[in-house]
Amino acid sequence: MEEDDEQKRRRLKLEEALEIQSLRRIITAYLNYPDASEEDVRRYERSYRKLPPVHKDLLSHYPLKFQRLRRCISMNTHFIFSMLQAFEPPLDMSQDLDLSGDSHAECAQKDHLASQGINACSCESAPVRIPCCQQDGVEGSNDTCRSPVLLHANKEVDMESNHQSNAGSHPLSSIPTKQSEEYSGSAMADSNDNVSPSGQHWLGPSFQFNVPLVDVDKVRCIIRNIVRDWAAEGKNERDQCYMPILEELNTLFPNRSKESPPACLVPGAGLGRLALEISRLGFVSQGNEFSYYMMICSSFILNHSETAGEWTIYPWIHSNCNSLSDSDQLRPVSIPDIHPASAGITEGFSMCGGDFVEVYNDPSQVGTWDAVVTCFFIDTAHNIVEYIEIISKILKDGGVWINFGPLLYHFADMYGQDEMSIELSLEDVKKVALHYGFEFEKERTIETTYTTNPRSMMQNRYFAAFWTMRKKSAAVQVPLE
Ligand SMILES: C[S@@+](CC[C@H](N)C(=O)[O-])C[C@H]1O[C@@H](n2cnc3c(N)ncnc32)[C@H](O)[C@@H]1O
Repeated sequence: MEEDDEQKRRRLKLEEALEIQSLRRIITAYLNYPDASEEDVRRYERSYRKLPPVHKDLLSHYPLKFQRLRRCISMNTHFIFSMLQAFEPPLDMSQDLDLSGDSHAECAQKDHLASQGINACSCESAPVRIPCCQQDGVEGSNDTCRSPVLLHANKEVDMESNHQSNAGSHPLSSIPTKQSEEYSGSAMADSNDNVSPSGQHWLGPSFQFNVPLVDVDKVRCIIRNIVRDWAAEGKNERDQCYMPILEELNTLFPNRSKESPPACLVPGAGLGRLALEISRLGFVSQGNEFSYYMMICSSFILNHSETAGEWTIYPWIHSNCNSLSDSDQLRPVSIPDIHPASAGITEGFSMCGGDFVEVYNDPSQVGTWDAVVTCFFIDTAHNIVEYIEIISKILKDGGVWINFGPLLYHFADMYGQDEMSIELSLEDVKKVALHYGFEFEKERTIETTYTTNPRSMMQNRYFAAFWTMRKKSAAVQVPLE
C-alpha cells in the first residue's frame, strides 16, 4: 500500500514536471515572438540588399515597408506580452525540473513530447499539412478539469476554481490590473538583453530563447485564430461556422428556461468565441480546450478585456505571399469586437482545460450534457471512434450532438512518426455514430474557410460536414455491419 502511495506520488510529481516543461516551452515561444519576427524582417532586408541598384530603385518604398513591419511587430508584441503579464500559471513555474534521472520520467517525457508533434489547429494552408499550432496538451491527469476559467456575467470577470470540484486543479487566477503603461509598444529587456513582460516573477532565466520553428509558427497561428474568434474581420467565417450551430441550438431548445438552462459542452473550443455565443444564447456553456497556447490567449480575452476594440494587432504581416497590396498585408485589426464581460452570458459559463478524452471519459460525466457541439474538432482525435463513444456517453438520453467541420485528421501523415491515427471516411463516421445510439436529424454540407485572411489571393475552402444527431435511449446500440 505504502509503495502504491509512493508510486502515485512520484507519478503525480512527474506529470506536474512535464506539464511545467510543456508550459515553459509555450511561454518561451510567445516570448520569442519579437525576435523571430525581427529575424524575418532582417531576412527580407538581406534579400533586398542583394538586388541590383536598378531593381532596388524600382522598390524604393521597401525600406519604409520594413520600418512599418517593425512597428506592427512591436504592436503584436505589446499584445502578447500583456497577455503573458496577465497569465497566472497554474503551477509553480520557478521550481527546478530534473526529469533526467528518472527512468519513468524519460519514458513519460518521450511520450509527452511525441504528443506535441501533431497538428491541432488547421491553419490557412491546411490542405498542405504544415506543422503549425500543434497541440500542447494540458496533459497528465485523469482528474476532471484543470485550469478552469470562469467568466461571470455582470461582474468584473475573473477566474476561479471550477464547479467540478477538483482538488488537483490549479485555477488560473487573475491579476488586478493590466499594466500596459509599463510598455512603450516594445519589449522590456533585462541586462542580458532577454526580453520579457515585466513584473512576472516566474519568468526567470530558465526561459531559453532557443525556439524551434514549429513553435514560432504556433504563435502566428494563434494570432490568426484571434481574428477568427475575436475580430470584426472574422465575422464572415464565424457566420459560416458558428451561426448554423447557434441557429440549430436555438431551434432545438425553443423553451429553454433561465432558471434551469440546458447544458452544452464545446470540446476543442479554441479561443472560446463559440462557447461564449452559446452561453449568450441561454445555455450553461462549457468550452474544453487542451492547448495552453489557446488557453492563455482565450483567458486573457475573456477575463481581462476592458472594452471592445482595446487592442490593435497586425495578424497578416507574417506572410508576404498572395498579398494584393502592402497596405492589405499591414492592415490593423482591432480586438476584441465585443466586450465579453458585457456580452450577456448565462451564469455558469466556463472554459475547462484538459484533454477531452481524459476529462470527459469519467463516470461523473455520464449523461450530463443536453448538447455537445463540435466545430473543427472531431478530426483532432487519435481515435475518432473513442471521441464518438464519449460524446454518446456524456449526452443525456435525447441529447443532441451538433457537428461542423472537415475530416482533416490531425495525426495523419506525421512524417514518419508512428502516431496512432484512425482516419475514417464520413460514411464510416456516421456508421460508428449509429452504433453508439445516434440517429440523424439533419445533415448538409457548408462551404467555409478556417483562419483565412479574407483579402488573400489564396482562399482554401472546406466543404464541411454539418449535422445534428440525437442520442436515442442508452440501451439501443446498432451493431456495425
Ligand atoms: C481546429 S481547432 C478548432 C477550434 C475551434 N473549435 C474553432 O472552430 O475555431 C481544434 C482545437 O481543438 C483542440 N484540441 C485538439 N485535441 C484536443 C483534445 N484531445 N482535447 C481538447 N482539445 C483538443 C486544439 O487545441 C484546437 O484548439
